[in-house]
Amino acid sequence: MSTICGGIFTSHVPGIGNAIAKGLQQDPYWKPFFDGFDPVHDFLEREKPDVAVVFYNDHGLNFFLDKMPTFAIGAAPEYRHEDEGWGIAFQRPYEGHPDLSWHIIEEVVESEFDPVTCQSMLVDHAVAVPFELCWPGKEAFPIKLIPIAINTVQHPLPSPKRCYNLGQAVGRAISTWEGDEKVVIFGTGGLSHQLEGARAGHLNPDYDRFCLKNLAPDPEALLQHSSLDIVELAGSQGVEIINWIAARGALTGSVRELASNYHIPISNTAAATVLLENSETVRA
Ligand code: DHB
Ligand code: FE
Repeated sequence: MSTICGGIFTSHVPGIGNAIAKGLQQDPYWKPFFDGFDPVHDFLEREKPDVAVVFYNDHGLNFFLDKMPTFAIGAAPEYRHEDEGWGIAFQRPYEGHPDLSWHIIEEVVESEFDPVTCQSMLVDHAVAVPFELCWPGKEAFPIKLIPIAINTVQHPLPSPKRCYNLGQAVGRAISTWEGDEKVVIFGTGGLSHQLEGARAGHLNPDYDRFCLKNLAPDPEALLQHSSLDIVELAGSQGVEIINWIAARGALTGSVRELASNYHIPISNTAAATVLLENSETVRA
């Protein structure tokens, strides 16, 4: 029977990819952010999960504004990163797990979600940067990928509650999968940032700390704000926190925070990394 061992929540700022390419992990600007991954590396080394289910947002690579699904689930045998103009040249492919993808799709449709199903899918920096952070330098990623894209770009956006419920449906789906895979859940993006317009550079440490404080013990506290409230609070890209909310929903067991790191700024973003352990409750 499959299990969910934990959740990894991280910003996905593309500049991190360039810092990795240039080996700047010990540089004073970058070190406080990269150091936040030491406990994540230890956790992954210890747990050795087989599958990563990644809640993220596509920024215009696989989906553009002309066709923007609210929720899309990858069911491809392999995924590739392509650079959207940030100058990131990650080449390692991502092996998929189509059978588990289709099981998740079946279960979330049964739960009355209507995702777009993607048997081919490019993934952008919102998947690639977290993978490079988690498994640096290895020849191939030691894990299979199931990407789940949430629209955080083209309004109207899904509500935080809808994203949380999607995550819960994904968590239930994993719990009914007959295989013995160990799964780790990712939520990428955030925290507060706004890249464009009159409020470019907007950050909100108070709201970020509210999210960090409640993510493990009381995730439903994050559902009190609508997506538009979050745009107001955290910025037009800070609303990427809805990916974290979905990922937290998928942790259906007993959840404990193992590590949390918050650092302002990385590029234009209040950057954060959180590691949550998920202990499975006994299932019928
Ligand atoms: C930045 C942050 C993002 O989440 C993103 O998708 C692109 C850029 C930034 O802060 O530079
Ligand atoms: Fe982003």
